[in-house]
Amino acid sequence: MKIAILISGRGSNMAALSQTKQGFDICLVAADRPAEGLAVAQQDGYATALIDRSAYQSKQDHEAALAEQIAAHNPDWIILAGYMSVLSASFIDRFDGRVINIHPSLLPEYKGLNTHSRVLADGGAHHGVSVHLVTALLDDGPLLAQIQLDVNSDDTEASLSKRVLGLEHQLYPAVITALAEGAVEIDRLAVRWSDTNRLKAITGGIVSFPPLD
Ligand code: GRF
Repeated sequence: MKIAILISGRGSNMAALSQTKQGFDICLVAADRPAEGLAVAQQDGYATALIDRSAYQSKQDHEAALAEQIAAHNPDWIILAGYMSVLSASFIDRFDGRVINIHPSLLPEYKGLNTHSRVLADGGAHHGVSVHLVTALLDDGPLLAQIQLDVNSDDTEASLSKRVLGLEHQLYPAVITALAEGAVEIDRLAVRWSDTNRLKAITGGIVSFPPLD
């Protein structure tokens, strides 16, 4: 299974995927702006592409250039890892909906930015991380898997962000490995786990699933 990873920043989730690579290969790492993670990907020997959003007249033109680059590498899945642009329906359709994202909250709660500070401001007892299929709406789409954590009374934005990121680095490679191994089947927006034990084993049992139906 070949994946193309899209990033906009430091790329720590990309690096976590790179370190795992069980059953999948990374055929391209692309960014929509100069991103720290591109240098890391280059050092790791991956094909990289900077398709700078600011160099294009419109979102449509930018996505067309991005799609060309991605299509040239023929990935099975496009994996968003801190990619800061919302993709359009036509881009997602061009790749038959085979686009996955990770988000630092228990979706559908806390879509968008600054999830850690918003959870703290609300006095939330729980927080977490979600991996989901991508639609043209921000942080939308069917869930593939989540991990929940308890918010501690002494948590700060920094401590919460660190703990959530650690869980992201466990969950994302585990889900992509499970996908590569056929433990989950995805047909457009339909998700069917045939073997959740494998995912539980990879993550040491901490994963929790959204309702399967
Ligand atoms: C992660 O928290 C990810 O869930 C969110 O953006 C952040 C990206 O971090 N979408 P990194 O670039 O992978 O380090």
